[in-house]
Amino acid sequence: MEAIQLKRIVLGVTGGVAAYKAAELVRLLVKQKIDVQVVLTEAASHFVTPATFQALSGRPVFTSLWDDRIDNGMAHIDLTRDADAVLVAPASADFLAKVAQGRADDLLSTLCLARTCPLLVAPAMNVQMWEQPATQRNVSQLKQDGVLFLGPAQGEQACGEVGLGRMLEPEEIAEALEGQFQPKRLNGLKVLITAGPTFEAIDAVRGISNQSSGKMGYAVARAALEAGAEVTLVSGPTCLTPPRGARTLPTVSTQQMLDAVEAEIDEADIFISVAAVADYYVLNPSESKIKKDAHILTLELAPNPDILANVTSRAKPPFCVGFAAESENLEEYAELKRKRKHLPLIVANAVQEAIGTDEVELLLLDDAGTHTLQRADKLTQARRLVEHIAQLYNAQHP
Ligand code: C5P
Repeated sequence: MEAIQLKRIVLGVTGGVAAYKAAELVRLLVKQKIDVQVVLTEAASHFVTPATFQALSGRPVFTSLWDDRIDNGMAHIDLTRDADAVLVAPASADFLAKVAQGRADDLLSTLCLARTCPLLVAPAMNVQMWEQPATQRNVSQLKQDGVLFLGPAQGEQACGEVGLGRMLEPEEIAEALEGQFQPKRLNGLKVLITAGPTFEAIDAVRGISNQSSGKMGYAVARAALEAGAEVTLVSGPTCLTPPRGARTLPTVSTQQMLDAVEAEIDEADIFISVAAVADYYVLNPSESKIKKDAHILTLELAPNPDILANVTSRAKPPFCVGFAAESENLEEYAELKRKRKHLPLIVANAVQEAIGTDEVELLLLDDAGTHTLQRADKLTQARRLVEHIAQLYNAQHP
């Protein structure tokens, strides 16, 4: 799909229990500054009322083909013509069947048939309904027709059964929707990313780590996925949920992170080393918990391998990107590090504002000089960074 700035969408809500979650979805989309025109099916209006959606979207809600609030009587045309996308969430089994067959017997299905923009659906139904050959036939037909599927997810269902068919959570739908419209600049490329801190054991329960949250590395993984890359995320211990679609390899120590990177690196076109790797590990960690007593405890530390330097010193390294967090002389130290580690690109940020925070300013240093990415949330920065990486990579690989 081409890159489009999402300004206005039609949100179709069909009849399913998950319809109540569509209200939260509207709120999130409006927060992302997307203008949302809600259309409910007749069945949906048994679960939720137009008033809720009208209040959240700030727009009149439509349910009928015969609504006389549109002057020319052509709601199905009028509502989609300036929309960038139609999103149906929840999309019931009946609705999928209808669209797969090209039927148009109510406002939402007619509008889907009359649309000129992309259609995205977030299915929600009982697991048996989802798995029925008839539904699966409809799903593959719709995919062939270019309809984009967001979910469904696995999990506990309103009926008490467990399985595939749950609607994605509103946050996931809002994120996936935005992601679908990012430019696909890394299509077909394999990207390996390290993220988070590492943890070096002192004994059975204690260890040395740092305050890296993993947010930046996970955001870079998401941005690379959105750009069409196949992403492997080698993660140190974090509390974050990995982005949907990334192959995530959890690791703890630096040595484990290095082992995972070495096992994957031959496949990678691009390596982005975001992890805040522990520089030292504890020699001879105790297998049991060390008892407290009044004596001074001395830990012997040995230097860890440098994962990034290890990758760049290979005979045929992938395109490598490093990160540098510095307390002072940011630009100067980052450039020295870039040269030392033989990197085409390094991303520098100030320690005070980068570690564990949600917003950062980034400096990108490459052979052409320094580029500043003005302060923004980490996902926005990750998307800008991915764009920059794609430019450099594509210049090297025409
Ligand atoms: O040398 P310094 O640790 O400041 O370098 C930072 C860059 O090197 C980051 O990209 C970080 O992920 C990577 N690094 C690494 N292995 C280490 C230390 C740092 O890959 N042991």
